[in-house]
Amino acid sequence: MKVTPETVVLVNCDCAEIQKIARAVRSAKVYTMVMPCTVPVERLMAEKPVGLIFCADKADPAVAAKAAPLAALNLPKIAVNAASGMFPGMVNVTLSAPTAVQALVDFCFKQCGCTGNWSLEKFIDEAVADIRAQVGDQTVVLGLSGGVDSSVVAALIHKAIGKQLTCVFVNHGLLRKGEPEQVRKVFAETFDMNLVYIDATDRFLDKLAGVSDPERKRKIIGKEFIDVFAEAARKVNAPFLGQGTIYPDILESISFDGKPAIKSHHNVGGLPPDLKFKLVEPVERLFKDEVRQVGKLLGLPSVLLDRHPFPGPSLGVRHVGAIARETLAVLREADAIVTDEMLKSGWYGKTWQTFAIFVPVKTTGIRDGGRSYDNVIAIRSINSVDAVTAEVVQLPWELLLKISQRIVTEVKGVNRVVYDITRKPPATIEWE
Ligand code: XMP
Repeated sequence: MKVTPETVVLVNCDCAEIQKIARAVRSAKVYTMVMPCTVPVERLMAEKPVGLIFCADKADPAVAAKAAPLAALNLPKIAVNAASGMFPGMVNVTLSAPTAVQALVDFCFKQCGCTGNWSLEKFIDEAVADIRAQVGDQTVVLGLSGGVDSSVVAALIHKAIGKQLTCVFVNHGLLRKGEPEQVRKVFAETFDMNLVYIDATDRFLDKLAGVSDPERKRKIIGKEFIDVFAEAARKVNAPFLGQGTIYPDILESISFDGKPAIKSHHNVGGLPPDLKFKLVEPVERLFKDEVRQVGKLLGLPSVLLDRHPFPGPSLGVRHVGAIARETLAVLREADAIVTDEMLKSGWYGKTWQTFAIFVPVKTTGIRDGGRSYDNVIAIRSINSVDAVTAEVVQLPWELLLKISQRIVTEVKGVNRVVYDITRKPPATIEWE
């Protein structure tokens, strides 16, 4: 989707920091697009760029040759992180230099003639017009998870076409405390959207009964989810499917010069072949923080927009071993206490993810003056930039003690709380 006339294209010559550069320029209200250095000249020129930023990786200067047709274009050009002599005639900016971002912004304004006219308010107006043009008087179905991306896309498509959008929210029984109620309240009540709410708790938990292998659990949850969603989508019978694809999904799914992509963009993957949708992906050119800002502008509450990432398989991968209703309820209560105390203490917003894990190990304790033999809850709090690596957060001791005290007093079935102090790698963020 073309969003603005003032586009600066980042020519990606295998630059590890490409997303950071794109974000830096966009924060000066200049719209950027990322294209591989091997893109055909005509494809690049179709975006009508006003300037090019060649983003390199010093470790591999051999790529300059592949970018030669683009480097020859008669447009303002600048290089980032290039080895010396890699792009003759271009000023080179080293991203780690303190003046780097300013140099790039100056390039856009002074050499490319940008006026900084790109804004998310404008983006919303144009996205709404685009959705209306694409969908016409037809209908769209959207799988709403309550996560940031699908929530923002729901609000955006709803702004464009109102009741022509139907959202499907599947409660698989593995959600956090209060989550299904919250999603229904925001979307069905506040936004007055068509919302199909499916409580498939029994279906999921029956399938998961006795299954302790993490990969099997994930597969069951994934497959079941698609089945339930597909059944609902068939009933809605919409030709369009709304999706919360964001720009990093796309950038990370482009393989670079034979190197495998970081991840495959799998959003429609797995739907049965009879469901042939045309896709509506209105935030596919936005970065995560921009998606959040759009959500804010559309009036979504902070409780949805500023929440920690939550895995698709949900509490299913935070409950070690086979999931039983009783122990799942224990985890849900413990997790709610962790979140409550994190929010109250102001620490929630300072961590990437902080959550409880149910550990099915019974240990001896004392409760009500007698012997108890109960389970363990672990707390994990990490900070990360991209979830590829993660550092343990040193939460204040008093906060941890308070959380521990509340869990062992308020949650039946737990008599011990432990703190996970392992970075990633070697430990993953989730326990399963
Ligand atoms: P790991 O456990 O692999 O997690 O260190 C990295 C990040 O990804 C999230 N995560 C998932 N997200 N579906 C998702 O949508 C999944 O199956 C899944 N598994 C892990 C995890 O919460 C962390 O932010």
